[in-house]
Amino acid sequence: MEIIIKRDALSGSQAAARVIARLVREKPTAVIGLATGSTPLMLYNELIRMHREEGLDFSRVTTFNLDEYVGLPPDHAQSYHRFMWDNLFRHINIVPENANIPDGMAKNIPAFCAVYEQAIVRAGGIDLQVLGIGSDGHVGFNEPTSSFASRTRIKTLTRQTVADNARFFGGDEAKVPHHCITMGIGTIMDARMNLMLAFGENKAEAVAATVEGPVASIMPASILQHHPAAKLFIDEAAASRLKLTDYYRWVYDGKPSWQKDA
Ligand code: F6R
Repeated sequence: MEIIIKRDALSGSQAAARVIARLVREKPTAVIGLATGSTPLMLYNELIRMHREEGLDFSRVTTFNLDEYVGLPPDHAQSYHRFMWDNLFRHINIVPENANIPDGMAKNIPAFCAVYEQAIVRAGGIDLQVLGIGSDGHVGFNEPTSSFASRTRIKTLTRQTVADNARFFGGDEAKVPHHCITMGIGTIMDARMNLMLAFGENKAEAVAATVEGPVASIMPASILQHHPAAKLFIDEAAASRLKLTDYYRWVYDGKPSWQKDA
């Protein structure tokens, strides 16, 4: 895993955006996996800026979102459909049919999940997957003890995730759906590159366990230690519990210029 420690969330997000922009310029038909939540907001703002000011072209890009709440219609204010359209899609030139998000209203959820997996394969697989991390170490909504072999499926959120996400529902935990559809850890591990972002002190423990702890399903993000191309963009606060920060900075500062894409 490559650990990239930036001064703050903004510079971390801008660095991550440069990796995505480079991919899209080199491969205009790139398939990109996307996340929601607070973490990727600055990243999406930077991609929007690059689209407007630098002509970054998403017209042939396909996207697949990681997850969606079960039971929320696409136009619900807290649905991840709304989130993606409000915070990214409506501001760039993506073709709506190419923007895939799990359907939280699917009548037959297992059948929908199988079709979602097939659609990813048909698109050629995910070139780059954007990830956040839960304070409990979840990726997508693969909560602790999720199988490392899991594929897109229904999951139950932990109480901690419900509490963490209540802020989007006016602070009312009762309004947070308990179920979601999420890509599995196996799905995420199939992406050719994984790009995880984590900012703030409340992610520091999960980041340290992910990078320097044992690979274990109790800390789902730790599986990224087995991914051949995982980059972790963090700020100083999220890096605060890591042991080898000096080494990560030394590696990053000493990279040959041709390797420096961020
Ligand atoms: C969202 C997702 C989640 C979030 C995680 C962190 O699509 O897959 O894993 O990335 O819950 O959320 P924030 O960024 O709000 O702290």
